Amino acid sequence: MKQAAIVVLISGNGSNLQALIDAARNDKLNVKIQAVISNTKEAYGLERARTAGIPALVKPKLKTQEREAYDAELADLVMSYHPNLVILAGWMRILSMAFISHFPGRILNLHPALPGTFPGVEAIERAYDAYQHGEIRCTGVMVHLVPDEGIDLGPVLAQRTVEIKPKDTLQDLQKRVHLCEHQLLIETIAHQILEMEESHA
Ligand code: GRF
Repeated sequence: MKQAAIVVLISGNGSNLQALIDAARNDKLNVKIQAVISNTKEAYGLERARTAGIPALVKPKLKTQEREAYDAELADLVMSYHPNLVILAGWMRILSMAFISHFPGRILNLHPALPGTFPGVEAIERAYDAYQHGEIRCTGVMVHLVPDEGIDLGPVLAQRTVEIKPKDTLQDLQKRVHLCEHQLLIETIAHQILEMEESHA
């Protein structure tokens, strides 16, 4: 089986990127991470990429730049690595069609909540609050395709429920959700690679 090429876009800590790096290293995932790109130079994930010997690039949006122009440049950069999949692993910018249209069916996003719930930032915090107010009983994680500009919206590839316990602190819940997303991301990418291979067979 041929190795799948992936490019990972990040904006922060990069714990999901680390899960990808570890899975690729331990042969749990047959991928080559061609590059890690961050929109901010402060992202710790860049350090993780460098440590793993993966090209780590910073591509900030200039203040003077239109959003579409930035996205088109970002697309060119990503395309130069010929990825089979583009993984948004804590990428904190909403991508426009100037980016998305270049990778139909090949952009995966990770959201630390169940489909249709808590889109946008601080999803775990908002789920925690909703639980405290008796509005939800559990939360979860999902991986979905990114067909358009919808925030944390798109065909769901995988989802998993995460338990919230009455005595949980926010940190307890964050830890449980992150652990779940690290696993679900790897499983979903492995599944997508198989699907892509079958559709090309
Ligand atoms: C994750 O919770 C991801 O689902 C969300 O942003 C967070 C990124 O975490 N979109 P990390 O940078 O991978 O540690």
